[in-house]
Amino acid sequence: MTEQAPGGFDVNQPNVARMYDYYLGGKNHFPADRAAAERVIELSYGYVRETVQENRAFLRRAVRYLAAECGVRRFLDLGAGLPTQGNVHEIALQEAPDSLVTYVDNDAVVAAHARALLEGDPRVRFLEGDLRRPEEVVAAASASGLIFDRPVALLLVACLHFVPDEEDPEGVVAAYRELLPSGSYVVVSHVCSDPVPEAMAAAGGVYGRANAPFEARPAARIARFFDGFDLVEPGVVPLNEWRPEPGALPLRGDFLPILGGVGRRP
Ligand SMILES: C[S@@+](CC[C@H](N)C(=O)[O-])C[C@H]1O[C@@H](n2cnc3c(N)ncnc32)[C@H](O)[C@@H]1O
Repeated sequence: MTEQAPGGFDVNQPNVARMYDYYLGGKNHFPADRAAAERVIELSYGYVRETVQENRAFLRRAVRYLAAECGVRRFLDLGAGLPTQGNVHEIALQEAPDSLVTYVDNDAVVAAHARALLEGDPRVRFLEGDLRRPEEVVAAASASGLIFDRPVALLLVACLHFVPDEEDPEGVVAAYRELLPSGSYVVVSHVCSDPVPEAMAAAGGVYGRANAPFEARPAARIARFFDGFDLVEPGVVPLNEWRPEPGALPLRGDFLPILGGVGRRP
């Protein structure tokens, strides 16, 4: 029998947002999420823990860079995930209190937690939506106050690897690019299959039972998400190499299987 939690969601199917929360050491997960996440940790020889920590650190640095150094005041965070430490609105508002932040995710659990956390601040909104539908997402964000009449930072962080090839992830990003005003930025991070292709394929098998499929991609494919954007230095790199803070600790593992970067729409 399917066990339903009070919010009406299935707790027996591993859920990609809750598995990610488990990797990060959060508290919002159920036994099915933990079992699947533990299997991925095992298959990745533990690399997934460092990967998610570095992903969050990259996201914080990129938002700080865009707010402080590029003057961006509008942030649209797609596949936002469960609230955790150092959320996008906290970083952006710390740098620039006049920032507007809209979060989008298609997950009911994320929606419930995000709405509870964000209630009361008119500068921050959460929308339930599917990032694979750029026009709908942009229309909903605009209707809720994040109007695309000046540069926007579009965050696609650790979520495009949940968009399978059949759904044309590069085409999705290109559609957003055409909707963004000139001077906007895109931030992408994506799990890379190059260092350990077999382990990544095995992890994909575990996610095959989850609520979204997972597909790590080679570096050459990840670079294509930036087609039509001018890459900000240092380009598309392992996330720990993207503008590290002074005194950043070296990696614990031999490599980091997640790449990303920031691009500017000319
Ligand atoms: C690994 S989490 C990443 C969270 C956050 N962006 C970060 O990097 O810390 C991926 C998130 O993408 C969301 N997601 C996956 N497919 C999606 C889709 N088609 N539309 C909207 N959100 C999606 C999941 O629900 C999950 O919350």
